[in-house]
Amino acid sequence: MAASIGAWLVPVVVLAIFYLVLFPNDLSQLQSALAPCSDGSPVATAASELTKTAAAAEDVDFRVFFGVVTRADFYERRALLRMAYALQPRPRRAVIDVRFVMCRLDKEEDAVLVALEIITHGDILVLNCTENMNDGKTYEYFSSLPRLFAGEPYDYAGKIDDDTYYRLEALADTLRGKARRDMWHGFLNPCHVSPERQYMSGMGYIVSWDVAEWIAASPELREDHEGHEDKAFGRWLRRGGRGKNVYGEEPRMYDYLDREMYADVNCFRHELVPDTVAVHKLKDRLKWARTLRFFNATDALKPSKMYHVDLTPKI
Ligand SMILES: *[C@@H]1O[C@H](CO)[C@@H](O)[C@H](O)[C@H]1NC(C)=O
Ligand SMILES: *[C@@H]1O[C@H](CO)[C@@H](O)[C@H](O)[C@H]1NC(C)=O
Repeated sequence: MAASIGAWLVPVVVLAIFYLVLFPNDLSQLQSALAPCSDGSPVATAASELTKTAAAAEDVDFRVFFGVVTRADFYERRALLRMAYALQPRPRRAVIDVRFVMCRLDKEEDAVLVALEIITHGDILVLNCTENMNDGKTYEYFSSLPRLFAGEPYDYAGKIDDDTYYRLEALADTLRGKARRDMWHGFLNPCHVSPERQYMSGMGYIVSWDVAEWIAASPELREDHEGHEDKAFGRWLRRGGRGKNVYGEEPRMYDYLDREMYADVNCFRHELVPDTVAVHKLKDRLKWARTLRFFNATDALKPSKMYHVDLTPKI
């Protein structure tokens, strides 16, 4: 009896080993797809969810809620950003959840179309604000996070512009050595002035979760939105004595520049460099295309008889 079970097992084991050798990736994809989504989104295949579940299996040093603040009707930009982040290598030992943040879906078409995006991708946060609200959005965003993720707080919260491209692995590596509390990371603006006049540029900034909790517990900040929203944010933190661990990422965060533009290199603008953390002012498709090609996003294109694509730069 035992011998006959053994004889029956041998081909099964051989087959299993064959399968593992030939299709090792299928197994990990299977595991990722089966893992439940913690935020209740129905589709588990969104790239950020794959990142999340795969990273959960390893040691995770920290988790970032990476909120790209955008408008409901910016469908094309969102499609581009989603693709750009999905194609990036996964950060090591860090979870960076890319989410799109927008105000209430007041238009009929936005309600329906964004609902479809949520069903498909599960990566959208809708705040209770209106687009024309004078900076209520920044307060609404940061103050809503501690409540939304009370059960599973992140280590950091980022507010990211939708014309900025971050390299998530470079971001994770630079955050790894930095303070986990009372922390504020981004590009110090205006550059090269005294620190008390500086605040983090709206291209993107990241605060530790305790700072978001402090904002949520300070409703009086909601009324303090004089002037530029990111400048106002800087005023909140300075007056409140928060975010004292300040990290300016110049020159690895900067505004986009190429040779066709009538603009000069300065302390906040230069051409693309390999060790970039974030590049800002990607205002049109050509700038996005050149940026993504520079960072080798197109390397994954496989030769095929189905197409011929000439990727050589035209400048
Ligand atoms: C959104 O905010 C408005 C005004 O601040 C409030 O009346 C309304 O109840 C809020 N809606 C939700 C769903 O919380
Ligand atoms: C892109 O790939 C090329 C060729 O492999 C390499 O020389 C270059 O450093 C890469 N660029 C970046 C930004 O990593």
